[in-house]
Amino acid sequence: MQFKKPELNGRKRRLDRALTIHDLRDIAKRRTPKAAFDYTDGSAEGELSLARARHAFEDVEFHPSILRDVSQVDTSATVFGGPSAMPFGIAPTGFTRLMQTEGETAGASAAAAAGIPFTLSTLGTTSIEGVRAANPNGRNWFQLYVMRQREISYGLVERAAAAGFDTLMFTVDTPVAGARLRDKRNGFSIPPQLSLGTVVNAIPRPWWWWDFLTTPKLEFASLSSTGGTVGELLDSAMDPSISFDDLDVIRSMWPGKLVVKGVQNVEDSKKLVDLGVDGIILSNHGGRQLDRAPIPFHLLPEVVREVGHHTEIAIDTGIMNGADIIAAVALGAKFTLVGRAYLYGLMAGGREGVDRMIQILSEQIIRTMKLLEVASLDELSPAHVTQLQRLVPRS
Ligand SMILES: Cc1cc2nc3c(=O)[nH]c(=O)nc-3n(C[C@H](O)[C@H](O)[C@H](O)COP(=O)(O)O)c2cc1C
Repeated sequence: MQFKKPELNGRKRRLDRALTIHDLRDIAKRRTPKAAFDYTDGSAEGELSLARARHAFEDVEFHPSILRDVSQVDTSATVFGGPSAMPFGIAPTGFTRLMQTEGETAGASAAAAAGIPFTLSTLGTTSIEGVRAANPNGRNWFQLYVMRQREISYGLVERAAAAGFDTLMFTVDTPVAGARLRDKRNGFSIPPQLSLGTVVNAIPRPWWWWDFLTTPKLEFASLSSTGGTVGELLDSAMDPSISFDDLDVIRSMWPGKLVVKGVQNVEDSKKLVDLGVDGIILSNHGGRQLDRAPIPFHLLPEVVREVGHHTEIAIDTGIMNGADIIAAVALGAKFTLVGRAYLYGLMAGGREGVDRMIQILSEQIIRTMKLLEVASLDELSPAHVTQLQRLVPRS
């Protein structure tokens, strides 16, 4: 019998015990003030879109083959004109340093180490140049909100191009902010305001507060007004009148790949292909906008069938396991994005927590591929997956 050497590094000990993204979420919940955790974990209205999207992935039936050599599997993907070591990248998230102060720097440097792309949000809390410094040789993507004050958005596009970001992701599902009820109930505001509840909630989480109060103050380079709930901020920044014409303007400004995020039906996908976009991201914003929106994973096969030969289709919303990613690739997705999985890792342990998130998803991807007996992503096909459906439309 041998005694196991105790792990003296508390962060490592904590993260090593997390075997799933759900475990990272549990750690994140313990360590993060309620308002910041709920901002991340929550979604809009009754939170049905997110629950349904996660169920849709859980309701996959896999069909493995037998007796193929899977001693080595190749997980690399090519997407939007470049490589990724894994078929997933980090989704854009706003206000990230509010969840854990290492924020985008942790995300971008972990992505760099793993060879996957990192996306910076227009509402990010680290500058374009700061992300570039954290991921100097890897792929950085910039997510664009076209705001009321167009010159702010256009200025960001120019800076992202100058910093060598290779893909611009135009988010189109936010004419107004979704109703994030948890934020309202928690009185979650920017900058955070101290109420009696906040102070009581802070007592078991002294490290978070120490960190928050001793690191540089949050700055939103791209927001003209600050103050209010996140929803109010979004509403003041977003322009509900944006249209397909804005796509033309952006196209003319951007030298790299242009992809549209938040596409939710086949007709719009076809229109975007006609307009020459380089990619489509099927997404309902992690359920944070229109509640009861279509489930992106259910839309995937039809959109791939209709436009997959003309453009690249990526998908997000609800991914909590590497097997979810494999199911999406089998049904024709070129790539996937993870939002909350990344943020749970970040809140659970900063840079190392994001590393752990990538490691968990990567191991799940490799294991699922081996058990399906496919040696590369190209070998995956719709025959590997049946989508079981809990909810079906009334005929
Ligand atoms: C806390 C949080 C902030 C987000 N901020 C943005 C944003 O600024 N821009 C954007 O296009 N999407 C944003 N999203 C949506 C994500 O990019 C992504 O679509 C979503 O998280 C995917 O679902 P998942 O969290 O289940 O992986 C945000 C999501 C979360 C959870």
